[in-house]
Amino acid sequence: MFAHPTVPVIAIDGPSASGKGTVARRIADEYGWVYFDSGLLYRAVGMIILTNQVDLSHLDRVNWATIVAQLNPVVMAHPDLKLESVGQLASRVAAVEALRTQLMYFQCNLLSKLSSDQFLVMDGRDIGTVIFPDAWLKFYITASVGVRAQRRHSEMKKRGVHHTLEEVAKDLEARDFRDLSRQSAPLKLAHDALLIDTSHLTAQEVFQRLCYFIDAKLKKAFA
Ligand code: C5P
Repeated sequence: MFAHPTVPVIAIDGPSASGKGTVARRIADEYGWVYFDSGLLYRAVGMIILTNQVDLSHLDRVNWATIVAQLNPVVMAHPDLKLESVGQLASRVAAVEALRTQLMYFQCNLLSKLSSDQFLVMDGRDIGTVIFPDAWLKFYITASVGVRAQRRHSEMKKRGVHHTLEEVAKDLEARDFRDLSRQSAPLKLAHDALLIDTSHLTAQEVFQRLCYFIDAKLKKAFA
């Protein structure tokens, strides 16, 4: 493998239901790389504080190191993590800077789990801006609120969860607002990220687009 002038990370950021998780997972499968969904960290922390009955109006008093120490593969694989209510809770705890600092150490540590020929494909909100500003390649995946709500709505329907399209759109907008407006590591486009609007693309087309950029960069690196 060539020496990386940057860290071996493909950062895929963007708002909820933009399709970033789907494409990130496929990229990791395609190239035999490691995938990590950073949203699961915030969701798991949300669930832990719910289980511990932490008062949400006093998040400033929480000992976040103790909470983060409770993250383990069982908690991270809990089926309820994917519930929209947990996503909303995740976006509330995600605004707490002290928690983000703890999770930053956790995420940076993931690099030590890679073998020398692997990349870490990671999706989230701040991967290319804060966690790995030196990522080898960065993407920002987005889509209109209408399209994202539509996608989330049909995905929920398949899982037997029934909400109106209007409710789903309202929840997405509330989450977008929190993620975009928070002080600490808000969702934003990194200056060196490739912006891909998936509003009019199929999942396959999004995948092919990302592969195109990755292949071009790999080719250049090995030339
Ligand atoms: O991506 P997902 O919807 O699972 O993320 C849940 C919430 O966790 C997001 O709405 C966001 O507030 C937070 N998050 C974050 N930074 C990340 C990943 C997720 O703040 N890197």
